[in-house]
Amino acid sequence: MSRHEGCDASVLLDSTPDNRSEKESPANNPSLRGFEVIDEAKARIESVCPSTVSCADILTFASRDAAYFAGGIKYAVPAGRRDGRVSIESEVLSNLPPFSFNAVQLKDSFARKGLTLDEMVTLSGAHSFGVSHCSSFADRLNATCPQDPKMDWKFDAFLKSKCLSAGSDPTVNLDVVTPNRLDNQYYKNLQKGRGLLTSDQTLQTSALTARLVAVNAKRPRAWTANFAAAMVKMGSIEVLTGDRGEIRRTCRVVNKY
Ligand code: HEM
Repeated sequence: MSRHEGCDASVLLDSTPDNRSEKESPANNPSLRGFEVIDEAKARIESVCPSTVSCADILTFASRDAAYFAGGIKYAVPAGRRDGRVSIESEVLSNLPPFSFNAVQLKDSFARKGLTLDEMVTLSGAHSFGVSHCSSFADRLNATCPQDPKMDWKFDAFLKSKCLSAGSDPTVNLDVVTPNRLDNQYYKNLQKGRGLLTSDQTLQTSALTARLVAVNAKRPRAWTANFAAAMVKMGSIEVLTGDRGEIRRTCRVVNKY
């Protein structure tokens, strides 16, 4: 999740000389990637059916397809979103939960967008796929605290070997067991102290969410169905319809009239 204006593709807009866009926020840069994939999809669609399919819909379809290719998770999402014309860097941090949040803070943050505690835990399962920069969990590897007590010691040693000696900011897999598979392995990792971010491991260590972690770890099919439903719901947050917004011609810039 990386937009703040709702699902209006504001996160795809490039900065202009007068405005720094959401992409520039430390919450999104350097972590967000793949903009060129969306550009290509948009260019192909525009060439056959101009000014009809919004960038917001393309993003939603792309995440639906990613869930299918990475996890065999199949679901239909409604279309009809329109694109926003506003994207402001400074508004990102107050809308996106940081990796340092605990379960209560995550619950409140998702609730502000109309998502339940269950849905928050279900959607966090997306961290069974993809990577994180070391800087996003450096707090947990802090040298003054030889080992985060909530982290499995072997996992801690592995992460230190990957992150601490490197001069730059390398990435590691969010899920060490099945990194390229969108599945419920994430919850099993949490139960073994192998959650990568503070915001991951807190779901196991907090009494508020530990039971939900256990259910998701045990019931892969239920998690898959709940994940699909929660993705559809998340894709309908604060959407623009009717004559609000526009159908952008290029996803990186607002239309000129
Ligand atoms: C619960 C609150 C969440 C927090 C605090 C959070 C935070 C993060 C952070 C810090 C990263 C690593 C960024 C980097 O260092 O490169 C990340 C990666 C990722 N997140 Fe989340 N996230 C949350 C929820 C979600 C949700 C709801 C989804 C989707 C349903 C999601 C999908 C992903 C994916 C797929 C990646 C890997 C991206 C890649 O491989 O480039 N996250 N998240």
